[in-house]
Amino acid sequence: MAVKNITVLGSGVMGHGIAQVSATAGYNVVLRDIKQEFLDKAMGKIKWSLDKLVSKEKITKEEGDAIFSRITPIVDLSDAVKNAELVIEVVPEIMELKKSVYAELDKVAGSEVIFASNTSTLPITEIANTTSRPEKFIGIHFFNPPQLMKLVEVIPGEKTAQAITDLTQEYVKSVNKVSVLCRKDVPGFIINRLFIPMVHEACFVKDRTGATLEEIDSAVKFKLGFPMGIFELADFTGMDVIHKATVEMHLRDKKVINPHPLVEKMFDDKKLGQKSGEGYYKYSDDKYERVALSEELANKYNPIQLVANILNNAAWLVSNGASDIEEIEKAAQLGLGLKKPLFETAKEIGIKKIVDELNKLADEHGEFYRPDPLLISMQ
Ligand SMILES: NC(=O)c1ccc[n+]([C@@H]2O[C@H](COP(=O)([O-])OP(=O)(O)OC[C@H]3O[C@@H](n4cnc5c(N)ncnc54)[C@H](O)[C@@H]3O)[C@@H](O)[C@H]2O)c1
Repeated sequence: MAVKNITVLGSGVMGHGIAQVSATAGYNVVLRDIKQEFLDKAMGKIKWSLDKLVSKEKITKEEGDAIFSRITPIVDLSDAVKNAELVIEVVPEIMELKKSVYAELDKVAGSEVIFASNTSTLPITEIANTTSRPEKFIGIHFFNPPQLMKLVEVIPGEKTAQAITDLTQEYVKSVNKVSVLCRKDVPGFIINRLFIPMVHEACFVKDRTGATLEEIDSAVKFKLGFPMGIFELADFTGMDVIHKATVEMHLRDKKVINPHPLVEKMFDDKKLGQKSGEGYYKYSDDKYERVALSEELANKYNPIQLVANILNNAAWLVSNGASDIEEIEKAAQLGLGLKKPLFETAKEIGIKKIVDELNKLADEHGEFYRPDPLLISMQ
């Protein structure tokens, strides 16, 4: 089946961006939300973004107009999906809401229509099984903002047909993105499995070593090749997003994350990061601000515990058949902006040292830290 018509359900932060990139690639897009005013706002944002591309001479005015005219905002669900071959669902990350949206959608969409969910953390198989078409249901995880971020994780559920996975990867390529396949529907998929536990781990590091936020962040940036520090990245992402992902991932698998209480406390105290003016750091306004990090500060903290954490999770993904090292490196480069491959950093430090560190942490702080068999075999 060829996809020409796409319906995007939800016109918020992610939905309007996915609609824009799809229309840019030539698809006819219907953007659906529950109120006309939400759609008006989303169409305004798309217009603004296209105008900016025109002013930067990335596209011509005619191209901008043509892209915009390929997006039709519609509130009525039956109308919105009547021509679609692919529906991308981008409604809020609440399981009950997603399930009710699919129950409604399942009734009005033809039996051939493919359902793709942009969920960051919810189980694909569980949502798929509430529909009449689990073999035509798949996870398609764009990153924020979809207009700029190259990576899209594609996650087949247990019953997803291979042809649907292939078609979804083709679609991702057609919108000028790079797909990374997460072969199993595991909590956090690839990127969140690497990133979210590391935020918690960094909080433990701070407690246990007495290193400052800036020292830890500098080491993460200058020694591990992150584009910014881990606390900085958490503030940029938002502690609401991190807390929610933590809860969902931990609910599904206690082994995936060792929750540090500070994350929940910051969420409760509304210290959400850049967007609220305070997270790990304080910000003078809601604009994107960088923290002063340096190589000098980086030399004050040895980030082995953080490397050990992210690497153990990467190894888990490989050992459990969800991914392989090459795909993980591609995802980490495009999704986390890593300038240096993870396993290269690990080899420079020495895998044996990392395994020893994990065993030491496990003895002191619990089995969560025990090294994955893959790391043990790589020593
Ligand atoms: N924001 C991010 O950084 C990010 C990144 C990757 C993935 N995601 C995932 O994308 C999804 C959406 O997140 P978001 O940040 O865009 O949320 P959002 O709150 O900005 O947008 C959600 C939109 O869905 C609309 N909506 C609610 N019920 C609906 C329905 N029945 N039909 C159609 N629209 C409906 C809401 O009115 C709202 O406009 C979530 O699953 C989230 O986990 C978010």
